[in-house]
Parts: sequence; C-alpha cells; structure tokens
Amino acid sequence: MSTKRVLSGMRPSGKLHLGHLHGVLKNWLRLQNEDECLFFVADWHALTTEYNSPGDIQENIKEMVIDWVSVGIDPEKSVVFLQSEIKEHAELHLLLSMITPVPWLERNPTYKEQIKEVKDKDLHTYGFLGYPVLQTADIIIYRADAVPVGIDQAPHLELSREITRRFNFLYGNVFPEPQTILTDASKLLGTDGRKMSKSYNNAIFLSDPPDVIEKKILPMMTDPARKRRTDAGSPEICPVFSLHKIYSPPDVIKKVDEGCRGANIGCIECKRFVIPKIIDELKPVQEKRKGLEKSPAIVKDVLAKGNEKARKIAQATMKEVRKALKLV
Ligand code: TRP
Ligand code: SF4
Repeated sequence: MSTKRVLSGMRPSGKLHLGHLHGVLKNWLRLQNEDECLFFVADWHALTTEYNSPGDIQENIKEMVIDWVSVGIDPEKSVVFLQSEIKEHAELHLLLSMITPVPWLERNPTYKEQIKEVKDKDLHTYGFLGYPVLQTADIIIYRADAVPVGIDQAPHLELSREITRRFNFLYGNVFPEPQTILTDASKLLGTDGRKMSKSYNNAIFLSDPPDVIEKKILPMMTDPARKRRTDAGSPEICPVFSLHKIYSPPDVIKKVDEGCRGANIGCIECKRFVIPKIIDELKPVQEKRKGLEKSPAIVKDVLAKGNEKARKIAQATMKEVRKALKLV
C-alpha cells in the first residue's frame, strides 16, 4: 500500500495560539506520523489581503515556523517550505487562471462573505478573487491526495477539485483530485468568549510565559449569568469550561461540571485547576522555542531544505503540465 501524500498551508500570522494548536497543529502532528506530509507557509496568500502592509511578513514567517517546529513538526519527517520560494506555484496559478470561470470564483462563499464584511481594506482585487486558484496550484503541483483544513476552507477545496477536473478534462489526466480531510474546528474559546483569534486580542499564545497565562485566564470571561459565587452556572456556555474539556482529566471535568451547576465551586478555583495544565503542556514547547530563538539559522535551514525538496516535486510536475498544454 502506498502512503497518501498530504499537504496543508497556513498564512504567516506570526506567533500561534492555543486555537491553532488544538484546531490545526495536533492534526498535522498525527498526519505526520501516518502519511507523507508537506506543510508550507502561504506568504503569497497573506498578500491577497495584506497587500498594503507587507512589513511584518518576514518576522511572521519566522515566528510561525518556530512554533511549528517547537510543537513537533519534524522537518526530517515532513517537508516544511515557503510558498514564494517555489516560483512554479505562480506559473501553475497563471495557467489555471486561463481555465477557471470567473463566476465560479464569484460564487465562492468565503469570497462573498469577506467582500461584504471586511471594511478596512479594499478586497476588490484580481488577486483576492483568485485566492482559490492559487490555493489549487499549491495543492495539485504536489499531486496531494488529501488536504487537512478547517470547515471555513471547505468551499476552497471544492473549487480546487472543480478546477482540477476541468484541467484533466481539457488536457488529459495529469492531476489527482485532492480530497478534503475536515479537521474538527477547535472548540476552544478565547478569553472573551469569542473564537480565539489574534485580531480579537483574546488569545493565549504558545509562547506566553506562565505568569502571562495566569494573568490572561484569571480575569477570563465565564458564564455571564453567574454573577455571584452562590449563583448556579452553566458550564456548557463558559469559555473556561472549553479549556477544561481539552486539558482536564474526566474526573476534574465532572467535578467542575457538577460544582458549577450546584454553585459549589468558585470561578477562580475552577480556573486554577486548568492554568497549570496549560502551562505544563506548553513547557517543552517553550523550551524548544528558546533554543530556536537563539539560533535563527536553524529556521532558515529548515525552510531551505524543505524548499529544495518541494521544488524538485513542483518542477517535475510543471514539466508534465507544459507538455500537456503544448507549451513545449
Ligand atoms: N487558505 C488557507 C488558510 O487561510 C491557506 C492555504 C493556502 C492552504 N494554500 C493552501 C491550505 C493549500 C491548504 C492547502 O488557512
Ligand atoms: Fe465557568 Fe468554571 Fe465559573 Fe462554571 S465555575 S462559570 S465552568 S469558570
């Protein structure tokens, strides 16, 4: 049985938080031991929305790759690379743009939503509309069998399959259709009860030292109906409980659940159960990070090695693509 080839990417958003760890990276870690994996930094994709402020991009790439490696993404097992270093993605993107009908892109729910909701930047650009075309090139240039993504990315993957089918129909069977591995969205909430996100300022970062973690969690939002210690609470709507569900053993979860409903446990006490668990989990990650921060050459080296491996695959694919399109 041949192993599957799995590919996934992340836009370089800088330091990662617990939402990334439990929503994405834990999946990557599992897949890395089962399949052939390629993980890449989608820096060109970052420019589709941040084109007017590219200033932080190098720093963000570095911090994100440090986090990947610190949590256990192993560059010996997985190919870790940088999108913009593999120019073949751009060539394939151009060729795919020839065959992708504009209405397919305009119908994309993510596109429609962002165009409507994002007010602080102008997203009426050619590049932003073509986001899923570039994403398709990223995937099929490696002939990836499967792509782990969150539910928000599922429409993009659907488009990728459609574009791939169209390519194969027009020019012959060059690419496998990439399957979606839907990763369970992390149920973990931010300190204000909303989805954990850097832009909401409610995130606990993998690099937060113990005192910062404590300072973020102690004032964290709880069940708003539980104003006093004597009020009964509803753990299922409490963001602190979302942390317990990930970090606490079943007996503690039970104790917290019953204690909260019966007003037998205070919120601070409840938070104090989970704080050390988070700190302990991050300890080895942060130790690894310290080592990497001291020798930034390692990060450069990880990407350089990964780029080389990725480039070989991408170049071989492009030879076939050019042939299929009668460009050679
Ligand atoms: N669009 C993805 C995101 O925002 C990043 C991405 C770019 C990607 N190219 C990809 C993910 C290819 C998987 C496969 O998270
Ligand atoms: Fe939330 Fe725990 Fe307070 Fe209940 S006791 S409201 S679960 S913090």
